[in-house]
Amino acid sequence: MSVLIKNGKIVTASEDFIADVYIEDEKITAIGKNLNYNAEKIIDASDKLVLPGGIDPHVHLDMPFMGTYSSDDYETGTRAALHGGTTSVIEFILQTQGDTLHNALKTWQEKSQHKAVGDYSYHMAVTDFNDDVAKEVVQMIEEEGITSFKTFMAYKGALMIDDGQMVQLMKVVRDHGGLVTVHATNGDMIDSLIARNLASGKTKPLYHYLSQPEVTEAEASARFCDMLHYTGCPGYIVHMTCEGALNAVRKATLRNQKVFVETCSQYLMIDASLYEREDGAKWVMSPPLREKKDQEALWSGINQGLVQVVGTDHCPFTLEQKAMGKDDFSKIPNGHPAIEHRMEFIYSEGVHKGKITLNKFVEVCATNASKIFGMYPRKGTIAIGADADIVVFDPSKKHTISVKTHHMNCDYSAYEGWEVTGKTETVLLRGKVAIENEECKLKPGDGQFIPREKSSLII
Ligand code: URP
Ligand code: ZN
Ligand code: ZN
Repeated sequence: MSVLIKNGKIVTASEDFIADVYIEDEKITAIGKNLNYNAEKIIDASDKLVLPGGIDPHVHLDMPFMGTYSSDDYETGTRAALHGGTTSVIEFILQTQGDTLHNALKTWQEKSQHKAVGDYSYHMAVTDFNDDVAKEVVQMIEEEGITSFKTFMAYKGALMIDDGQMVQLMKVVRDHGGLVTVHATNGDMIDSLIARNLASGKTKPLYHYLSQPEVTEAEASARFCDMLHYTGCPGYIVHMTCEGALNAVRKATLRNQKVFVETCSQYLMIDASLYEREDGAKWVMSPPLREKKDQEALWSGINQGLVQVVGTDHCPFTLEQKAMGKDDFSKIPNGHPAIEHRMEFIYSEGVHKGKITLNKFVEVCATNASKIFGMYPRKGTIAIGADADIVVFDPSKKHTISVKTHHMNCDYSAYEGWEVTGKTETVLLRGKVAIENEECKLKPGDGQFIPREKSSLII
Protein backbone atom coordinates (compact mmCIF):
# COMPACT_ATOMS: atom_id res chain seq x y z
CA MET A 1 0.00 0.00 0.00
CA SER A 2 1.28 3.50 -0.82
CA VAL A 3 0.00 6.72 0.74
CA LEU A 4 0.77 10.34 -0.10
CA ILE A 5 -0.01 13.00 2.53
CA LYS A 6 -0.12 16.38 0.78
CA ASN A 7 0.54 19.93 1.99
CA GLY A 8 0.47 19.37 5.73
CA LYS A 9 2.62 21.13 8.30
CA ILE A 10 5.09 18.42 9.29
CA VAL A 11 6.15 18.79 12.91
CA THR A 12 9.10 17.05 14.52
CA ALA A 13 10.87 17.73 17.81
CA SER A 14 13.20 20.15 16.03
CA GLU A 15 11.46 21.50 12.90
CA ASP A 16 8.15 22.35 11.28
CA PHE A 17 7.59 22.95 7.59
CA ILE A 18 4.94 22.46 4.90
CA ALA A 19 5.66 19.45 2.69
CA ASP A 20 4.36 16.10 1.45
CA VAL A 21 5.10 12.68 2.95
CA TYR A 22 5.20 9.53 0.84
CA ILE A 23 4.76 6.10 2.39
CA GLU A 24 5.42 2.72 0.83
CA ASP A 25 4.20 -0.26 2.83
CA GLU A 26 5.21 0.33 6.45
CA LYS A 27 7.83 3.06 6.04
CA ILE A 28 8.20 6.72 5.16
CA THR A 29 10.22 6.77 1.92
CA ALA A 30 10.13 10.44 0.84
CA ILE A 31 9.51 13.89 2.31
CA GLY A 32 9.49 16.98 0.11
CA LYS A 33 7.59 19.76 -1.64
CA ASN A 34 5.14 18.82 -4.40
CA LEU A 35 6.04 15.14 -4.46
CA ASN A 36 4.80 13.66 -7.69
CA TYR A 37 4.14 10.01 -6.86
CA ASN A 38 1.24 7.80 -7.86
CA ALA A 39 -0.14 6.67 -4.53
CA GLU A 40 -3.00 4.29 -3.83
CA LYS A 41 -4.30 6.74 -1.24
CA ILE A 42 -3.91 10.52 -1.11
CA ILE A 43 -4.65 12.48 2.08
CA ASP A 44 -5.06 16.25 1.76
CA ALA A 45 -3.52 17.72 4.93
CA SER A 46 -3.80 21.41 3.99
CA ASP A 47 -4.16 23.51 7.18
CA LYS A 48 -3.48 20.39 9.25
CA LEU A 49 -0.52 19.27 11.32
CA VAL A 50 1.29 16.08 10.34
CA LEU A 51 2.69 14.62 13.57
CA PRO A 52 4.61 11.48 14.46
CA GLY A 53 2.32 8.93 16.10
CA GLY A 54 2.21 9.49 19.84
CA ILE A 55 4.02 7.18 22.24
CA ASP A 56 2.56 6.68 25.70
CA PRO A 57 5.18 4.89 27.78
CA HIS A 58 2.99 4.50 30.86
CA VAL A 59 -0.23 2.49 30.53
CA HIS A 60 -1.78 -0.42 32.44
CA LEU A 61 -3.97 -2.74 30.37
CA ASP A 62 -5.78 -5.71 31.89
CA MET A 63 -3.55 -5.28 34.94
CA PRO A 64 -4.25 -7.26 38.11
CA PHE A 65 -4.29 -4.62 40.83
CA MET A 66 -5.94 -4.08 44.21
CA GLY A 67 -8.19 -7.12 43.89
CA THR A 68 -9.42 -6.42 40.37
CA TYR A 69 -8.20 -5.77 36.80
CA SER A 70 -7.89 -2.44 34.97
CA SER A 71 -10.92 -2.26 32.70
CA ASP A 72 -9.22 -1.69 29.34
CA ASP A 73 -7.46 -4.68 27.84
CA TYR A 74 -4.99 -4.68 24.95
CA GLU A 75 -7.79 -4.49 22.40
CA THR A 76 -9.91 -1.70 23.87
CA GLY A 77 -6.93 0.21 25.28
CA THR A 78 -4.77 0.33 22.16
CA ARG A 79 -7.81 1.09 20.00
CA ALA A 80 -8.77 4.04 22.22
CA ALA A 81 -5.13 5.18 22.09
CA LEU A 82 -5.23 5.17 18.28
CA HIS A 83 -8.40 7.29 18.30
CA GLY A 84 -6.42 9.98 20.08
CA GLY A 85 -3.27 9.70 17.95
CA THR A 86 -1.19 7.44 20.20
CA THR A 87 0.13 4.67 17.96
CA SER A 88 2.47 2.92 20.43
CA VAL A 89 2.21 2.23 24.14
CA ILE A 90 4.58 0.69 26.66
CA GLU A 91 2.76 -1.40 29.23
CA PHE A 92 3.98 -2.97 32.49
CA ILE A 93 4.56 -6.66 33.04
CA LEU A 94 4.26 -7.38 36.77
CA GLN A 95 6.45 -10.10 38.24
CA THR A 96 4.49 -11.98 40.92
CA GLN A 97 6.57 -11.94 44.11
CA GLY A 98 8.24 -15.35 44.47
CA ASP A 99 7.85 -16.14 40.76
CA THR A 100 10.05 -15.58 37.70
CA LEU A 101 10.21 -12.75 35.16
CA HIS A 102 9.79 -15.29 32.35
CA ASN A 103 6.50 -16.55 33.75
CA ALA A 104 5.25 -12.99 33.95
CA LEU A 105 6.40 -12.34 30.37
CA LYS A 106 4.44 -15.38 29.17
CA THR A 107 1.28 -14.17 30.90
CA TRP A 108 1.60 -10.74 29.31
CA GLN A 109 2.31 -12.16 25.84
CA GLU A 110 -0.96 -14.07 26.10
CA LYS A 111 -2.81 -10.88 27.06
CA SER A 112 -1.40 -8.87 24.16
CA GLN A 113 -0.60 -11.06 21.14
CA HIS A 114 -3.62 -11.35 18.82
CA LYS A 115 -5.40 -8.63 20.80
CA ALA A 116 -3.44 -5.40 20.37
CA VAL A 117 -4.80 -3.05 17.71
CA GLY A 118 -1.92 -0.57 18.06
CA ASP A 119 1.79 -1.21 18.60
CA TYR A 120 3.11 -1.99 22.07
CA SER A 121 6.14 -2.85 24.09
CA TYR A 122 6.71 -3.83 27.72
CA HIS A 123 8.55 -2.56 30.77
CA MET A 124 9.37 -5.38 33.19
CA ALA A 125 8.36 -4.62 36.79
CA VAL A 126 10.80 -6.30 39.17
CA THR A 127 8.90 -6.82 42.40
CA ASP A 128 11.19 -9.42 43.98
CA PHE A 129 14.91 -9.23 43.24
CA ASN A 130 17.43 -12.05 43.88
CA ASP A 131 20.35 -13.73 42.07
CA ASP A 132 18.10 -15.77 39.78
CA VAL A 133 16.09 -12.70 38.84
CA ALA A 134 19.39 -10.90 38.13
CA LYS A 135 20.12 -13.49 35.41
CA GLU A 136 16.65 -13.04 33.98
CA VAL A 137 17.14 -9.27 33.86
CA VAL A 138 20.11 -9.81 31.55
CA GLN A 139 18.07 -12.21 29.39
CA MET A 140 15.26 -9.66 29.12
CA ILE A 141 17.72 -7.08 27.76
CA GLU A 142 19.75 -9.38 25.51
CA GLU A 143 17.03 -11.73 24.24
CA GLU A 144 13.57 -10.23 24.68
CA GLY A 145 13.94 -6.55 23.71
CA ILE A 146 12.86 -5.42 27.18
CA THR A 147 15.40 -2.82 28.31
CA SER A 148 13.56 -0.95 31.07
CA PHE A 149 12.85 -2.27 34.57
CA LYS A 150 10.11 -0.79 36.70
CA THR A 151 10.40 -0.61 40.46
CA PHE A 152 7.93 0.43 43.12
CA MET A 153 8.97 2.19 46.32
CA ALA A 154 5.35 1.76 47.53
CA TYR A 155 2.55 -0.89 47.51
CA LYS A 156 4.30 -2.98 50.19
CA GLY A 157 3.51 -6.70 50.14
CA ALA A 158 2.48 -6.62 46.50
CA LEU A 159 4.91 -4.66 44.34
CA MET A 160 7.40 -2.79 46.56
CA ILE A 161 11.09 -3.68 46.71
CA ASP A 162 13.40 -2.41 49.44
CA ASP A 163 16.41 -0.14 48.94
CA GLY A 164 18.84 -3.06 49.16
CA GLN A 165 17.13 -4.85 46.29
CA MET A 166 16.95 -1.55 44.42
CA VAL A 167 20.69 -0.92 44.40
CA GLN A 168 21.48 -4.53 43.47
CA LEU A 169 19.04 -4.34 40.57
CA MET A 170 20.54 -1.01 39.49
CA LYS A 171 24.03 -2.53 39.31
CA VAL A 172 22.88 -5.36 37.01
CA VAL A 173 20.85 -3.04 34.81
CA ARG A 174 23.77 -0.58 34.58
CA ASP A 175 26.18 -3.34 33.52
CA HIS A 176 23.91 -4.40 30.65
CA GLY A 177 22.85 -1.03 29.28
CA GLY A 178 19.28 -0.90 30.59
CA LEU A 179 17.27 1.67 32.51
CA VAL A 180 15.59 1.51 35.94
CA THR A 181 12.27 3.30 36.22
CA VAL A 182 10.48 4.02 39.47
CA HIS A 183 7.21 4.79 41.18
CA ALA A 184 8.91 7.09 43.68
CA THR A 185 6.91 7.49 46.87
CA ASN A 186 7.75 6.58 50.46
CA GLY A 187 5.61 3.45 50.89
CA ASP A 188 6.12 3.00 54.64
CA MET A 189 5.20 6.58 55.42
CA ILE A 190 2.09 6.39 53.24
CA ASP A 191 0.98 3.09 54.81
CA SER A 192 1.24 4.57 58.30
CA LEU A 193 -0.73 7.70 57.31
CA ILE A 194 -3.43 5.53 55.73
CA ALA A 195 -3.67 3.41 58.89
CA ARG A 196 -3.92 6.52 61.13
CA ASN A 197 -6.61 8.12 58.98
CA LEU A 198 -8.72 4.95 58.80
CA ALA A 199 -8.36 4.37 62.56
CA SER A 200 -9.86 7.79 63.21
CA GLY A 201 -12.80 7.17 60.87
CA LYS A 202 -11.47 9.21 57.93
CA THR A 203 -12.58 6.99 55.08
CA LYS A 204 -13.46 9.37 52.21
CA PRO A 205 -11.40 9.81 48.99
CA LEU A 206 -9.99 13.09 50.34
CA TYR A 207 -7.91 11.02 52.79
CA HIS A 208 -6.27 9.17 49.92
CA TYR A 209 -4.83 12.55 49.00
CA LEU A 210 -3.99 13.52 52.58
CA SER A 211 -2.22 10.18 53.14
CA GLN A 212 0.25 10.90 50.32
CA PRO A 213 1.60 14.40 51.02
CA GLU A 214 4.15 15.95 48.68
CA VAL A 215 7.04 15.04 50.98
CA THR A 216 6.41 11.30 50.41
CA GLU A 217 7.16 11.79 46.72
CA ALA A 218 9.93 14.37 47.12
CA GLU A 219 11.82 12.22 49.65
CA ALA A 220 11.59 9.03 47.56
CA SER A 221 12.59 10.86 44.36
CA ALA A 222 15.69 12.25 46.08
CA ARG A 223 16.53 8.82 47.50
CA PHE A 224 16.14 7.23 44.07
CA CYS A 225 18.45 9.87 42.54
CA ASP A 226 21.01 9.18 45.26
CA MET A 227 20.89 5.43 44.63
CA LEU A 228 21.31 6.03 40.89
CA HIS A 229 24.27 8.29 41.60
CA TYR A 230 25.86 5.71 43.88
CA THR A 231 25.43 2.86 41.37
CA GLY A 232 25.98 4.86 38.16
CA CYS A 233 22.75 3.45 36.73
CA PRO A 234 20.54 5.53 34.41
CA GLY A 235 17.06 6.16 35.78
CA TYR A 236 13.61 7.44 34.95
CA ILE A 237 10.96 8.64 37.42
CA VAL A 238 7.42 7.86 36.29
CA HIS A 239 4.28 9.95 36.91
CA MET A 240 5.95 12.86 38.70
CA THR A 241 3.34 15.15 40.20
CA CYS A 242 4.97 17.86 42.29
CA GLU A 243 7.43 20.67 42.77
CA GLY A 244 9.28 18.91 45.61
CA ALA A 245 10.06 15.83 43.51
CA LEU A 246 11.08 17.99 40.55
CA ASN A 247 13.45 19.91 42.81
CA ALA A 248 15.06 16.63 43.89
CA VAL A 249 15.91 15.98 40.24
CA ARG A 250 17.01 19.59 39.74
CA LYS A 251 19.38 19.12 42.68
CA ALA A 252 20.76 15.91 41.14
CA THR A 253 21.64 17.86 37.99
CA LEU A 254 23.98 20.00 40.13
CA ARG A 255 26.30 16.98 40.40
CA ASN A 256 26.02 16.50 36.62
CA GLN A 257 23.54 13.65 37.01
CA LYS A 258 20.87 13.09 34.38
CA VAL A 259 17.64 11.49 35.59
CA PHE A 260 14.77 11.26 33.12
CA VAL A 261 11.35 12.46 34.29
CA GLU A 262 7.84 11.68 33.12
CA THR A 263 4.75 13.50 34.21
CA CYS A 264 1.21 12.67 33.09
CA SER A 265 -1.46 14.79 31.43
CA GLN A 266 -3.67 14.78 34.56
CA TYR A 267 -0.97 16.34 36.75
CA LEU A 268 -0.75 19.24 34.29
CA MET A 269 -4.50 19.77 34.07
CA ILE A 270 -6.55 18.90 37.16
CA ASP A 271 -5.94 19.33 40.87
CA ALA A 272 -6.64 17.93 44.32
CA SER A 273 -9.80 19.99 44.86
CA LEU A 274 -11.60 17.15 43.02
CA TYR A 275 -11.11 14.91 46.07
CA GLU A 276 -13.60 17.04 48.00
CA ARG A 277 -16.41 15.97 45.67
CA GLU A 278 -18.79 13.11 46.48
CA ASP A 279 -17.53 11.30 43.36
CA GLY A 280 -13.87 11.96 44.28
CA ALA A 281 -13.06 8.23 43.82
CA LYS A 282 -12.98 8.84 40.06
CA TRP A 283 -9.64 10.62 40.51
CA VAL A 284 -8.10 8.37 43.15
CA MET A 285 -4.69 7.53 41.73
CA SER A 286 -1.18 7.29 43.11
CA PRO A 287 0.50 9.65 43.49
CA PRO A 288 -2.61 11.81 43.89
CA LEU A 289 -3.48 14.99 42.04
CA ARG A 290 -1.69 17.95 43.59
CA GLU A 291 -1.96 21.75 43.72
CA LYS A 292 -1.99 24.51 41.08
CA LYS A 293 1.57 25.47 42.06
CA ASP A 294 2.67 21.93 41.15
CA GLN A 295 1.05 22.20 37.72
CA GLU A 296 3.01 25.39 37.12
CA ALA A 297 6.25 23.75 38.29
CA LEU A 298 5.68 20.82 35.92
CA TRP A 299 4.94 23.00 32.87
CA SER A 300 8.10 24.96 33.69
CA GLY A 301 9.99 21.68 34.13
CA ILE A 302 8.94 20.70 30.59
CA ASN A 303 10.29 23.96 29.19
CA GLN A 304 13.46 23.68 31.26
CA GLY A 305 14.12 20.19 29.86
CA LEU A 306 13.86 18.61 33.32
CA VAL A 307 10.65 16.79 32.37
CA GLN A 308 11.12 14.94 29.09
CA VAL A 309 7.95 12.87 28.74
CA VAL A 310 4.19 13.27 29.22
CA GLY A 311 2.43 9.92 29.58
CA THR A 312 -0.93 9.04 31.09
CA ASP A 313 -0.55 6.22 33.64
CA HIS A 314 -3.80 5.05 32.06
CA CYS A 315 -5.29 2.62 34.57
CA PRO A 316 -9.08 2.74 34.28
CA PHE A 317 -11.62 1.20 36.61
CA THR A 318 -15.38 1.31 36.18
CA LEU A 319 -17.65 3.04 38.70
CA GLU A 320 -18.56 -0.36 40.11
CA GLN A 321 -14.87 -1.15 40.63
CA LYS A 322 -14.29 2.27 42.20
CA ALA A 323 -17.17 1.51 44.59
CA MET A 324 -15.04 -1.27 46.16
CA GLY A 325 -13.72 1.57 48.31
CA LYS A 326 -16.96 3.35 49.16
CA ASP A 327 -16.41 2.82 52.89
CA ASP A 328 -12.60 2.83 52.86
CA PHE A 329 -10.54 5.02 50.53
CA SER A 330 -7.62 2.55 50.68
CA LYS A 331 -9.74 -0.02 48.81
CA ILE A 332 -10.53 2.25 45.85
CA PRO A 333 -8.58 0.81 42.91
CA ASN A 334 -5.98 3.44 42.01
CA GLY A 335 -5.99 4.93 38.52
CA HIS A 336 -8.12 6.73 35.95
CA PRO A 337 -8.92 6.57 32.20
CA ALA A 338 -6.67 8.82 30.09
CA ILE A 339 -5.02 6.93 27.21
CA GLU A 340 -7.30 8.39 24.54
CA HIS A 341 -6.95 12.14 24.98
CA ARG A 342 -3.33 12.76 25.97
CA MET A 343 -2.24 14.24 22.62
CA GLU A 344 -5.34 16.43 22.32
CA PHE A 345 -5.06 17.58 25.94
CA ILE A 346 -1.38 18.51 25.69
CA TYR A 347 -1.95 20.27 22.38
CA SER A 348 -4.95 22.17 23.77
CA GLU A 349 -3.62 23.00 27.25
CA GLY A 350 0.00 23.34 26.17
CA VAL A 351 0.35 24.61 22.59
CA HIS A 352 -3.03 26.31 22.13
CA LYS A 353 -2.78 28.09 25.51
CA GLY A 354 0.79 29.19 24.77
CA LYS A 355 2.61 27.17 27.44
CA ILE A 356 4.81 25.08 25.12
CA THR A 357 5.87 25.16 21.47
CA LEU A 358 4.67 22.77 18.79
CA ASN A 359 8.10 21.14 18.70
CA LYS A 360 8.12 20.64 22.48
CA PHE A 361 4.67 19.04 22.16
CA VAL A 362 6.04 16.45 19.72
CA GLU A 363 9.15 15.98 21.84
CA VAL A 364 7.24 15.16 25.07
CA CYS A 365 4.41 13.19 23.44
CA ALA A 366 6.51 11.06 21.07
CA THR A 367 10.18 11.68 20.36
CA ASN A 368 11.70 11.64 23.83
CA ALA A 369 9.93 8.44 24.88
CA SER A 370 11.20 6.81 21.69
CA LYS A 371 14.78 7.89 22.38
CA ILE A 372 14.76 7.11 26.10
CA PHE A 373 13.20 3.68 25.62
CA GLY A 374 15.23 2.56 22.59
CA MET A 375 12.76 2.82 19.72
CA TYR A 376 14.37 5.74 17.88
CA PRO A 377 14.46 6.44 14.92
CA ARG A 378 11.98 3.70 14.07
CA LYS A 379 9.27 5.43 16.15
CA GLY A 380 8.65 8.97 17.42
CA THR A 381 9.62 11.09 14.42
CA ILE A 382 8.82 11.81 10.79
CA ALA A 383 11.91 10.84 8.81
CA ILE A 384 12.83 8.72 5.83
CA GLY A 385 13.11 5.12 6.98
CA ALA A 386 10.93 5.56 10.06
CA ASP A 387 7.74 3.58 10.60
CA ALA A 388 4.87 5.44 8.98
CA ASP A 389 3.05 6.09 12.27
CA ILE A 390 1.49 9.42 11.43
CA VAL A 391 -1.28 11.62 12.83
CA VAL A 392 -3.05 14.19 10.71
CA PHE A 393 -4.24 16.63 13.35
CA ASP A 394 -6.69 19.52 12.98
CA PRO A 395 -5.29 22.27 15.23
CA SER A 396 -8.39 24.43 15.19
CA LYS A 397 -11.19 21.90 15.63
CA LYS A 398 -12.99 22.28 18.95
CA HIS A 399 -14.67 19.37 20.70
CA THR A 400 -15.94 18.32 24.11
CA ILE A 401 -14.74 15.28 26.04
CA SER A 402 -17.46 12.90 27.18
CA VAL A 403 -18.03 9.31 28.21
CA LYS A 404 -20.68 9.28 25.45
CA THR A 405 -18.04 9.62 22.74
CA HIS A 406 -14.85 8.14 24.17
CA HIS A 407 -13.61 4.69 23.19
CA MET A 408 -12.08 3.60 26.48
CA ASN A 409 -13.77 0.73 28.31
CA CYS A 410 -14.77 2.86 31.25
CA ASP A 411 -18.23 4.10 32.15
CA TYR A 412 -17.15 7.60 33.16
CA SER A 413 -14.89 10.29 31.82
CA ALA A 414 -12.61 12.02 34.31
CA TYR A 415 -12.85 15.09 32.03
CA GLU A 416 -16.60 15.17 31.28
CA GLY A 417 -17.48 18.43 29.51
CA TRP A 418 -13.85 19.58 29.09
CA GLU A 419 -13.52 21.81 25.98
CA VAL A 420 -10.54 20.94 23.81
CA THR A 421 -9.06 22.76 20.83
CA GLY A 422 -7.34 20.41 18.38
CA LYS A 423 -8.47 16.98 17.18
CA THR A 424 -6.91 13.84 15.82
CA GLU A 425 -8.31 13.33 12.34
CA THR A 426 -6.54 10.54 10.49
CA VAL A 427 -4.04 8.09 11.97
CA LEU A 428 -1.70 5.73 10.15
CA LEU A 429 -0.02 2.82 11.88
CA ARG A 430 2.97 1.50 9.94
CA GLY A 431 1.42 2.85 6.74
CA LYS A 432 -2.05 1.37 7.27
CA VAL A 433 -5.03 3.63 7.89
CA ALA A 434 -5.90 3.08 11.54
CA ILE A 435 -8.40 5.90 12.19
CA GLU A 436 -10.48 7.72 9.59
CA ASN A 437 -13.80 9.51 10.00
CA GLU A 438 -13.71 8.61 13.71
CA GLU A 439 -13.70 4.89 12.88
CA CYS A 440 -11.01 2.37 13.65
CA LYS A 441 -10.04 0.42 10.52
CA LEU A 442 -7.65 -1.98 12.22
CA LYS A 443 -8.49 -5.18 14.04
CA PRO A 444 -7.14 -7.04 17.05
CA GLY A 445 -3.77 -8.55 16.17
CA ASP A 446 -2.79 -5.71 13.82
CA GLY A 447 -0.71 -4.17 16.62
CA GLN A 448 2.86 -5.47 16.84
CA PHE A 449 5.22 -6.00 19.74
CA ILE A 450 8.13 -3.57 19.35
CA PRO A 451 11.36 -5.02 20.73
CA ARG A 452 13.51 -2.24 22.12
CA GLU A 453 17.20 -1.43 21.87
CA LYS A 454 19.31 0.25 24.50
CA SER A 455 18.46 3.92 24.96
CA SER A 456 20.02 6.31 22.47
CA LEU A 457 20.15 9.04 25.15
CA ILE A 458 22.39 7.15 27.56
CA ILE A 459 26.11 7.55 27.01
O1 URP B 1 -2.91 5.09 40.51
C1 URP B 1 -2.14 4.52 39.76
N1 URP B 1 -1.08 5.16 39.38
N2 URP B 1 -2.40 3.27 39.33
C2 URP B 1 -1.58 2.45 38.54
C3 URP B 1 -0.40 1.88 39.27
C4 URP B 1 0.72 2.87 39.38
O2 URP B 1 1.16 3.16 40.48
O3 URP B 1 1.20 3.37 38.37
ZN1 ZN C 1 2.86 4.15 39.94
ZN1 ZN D 1 1.35 3.36 36.50
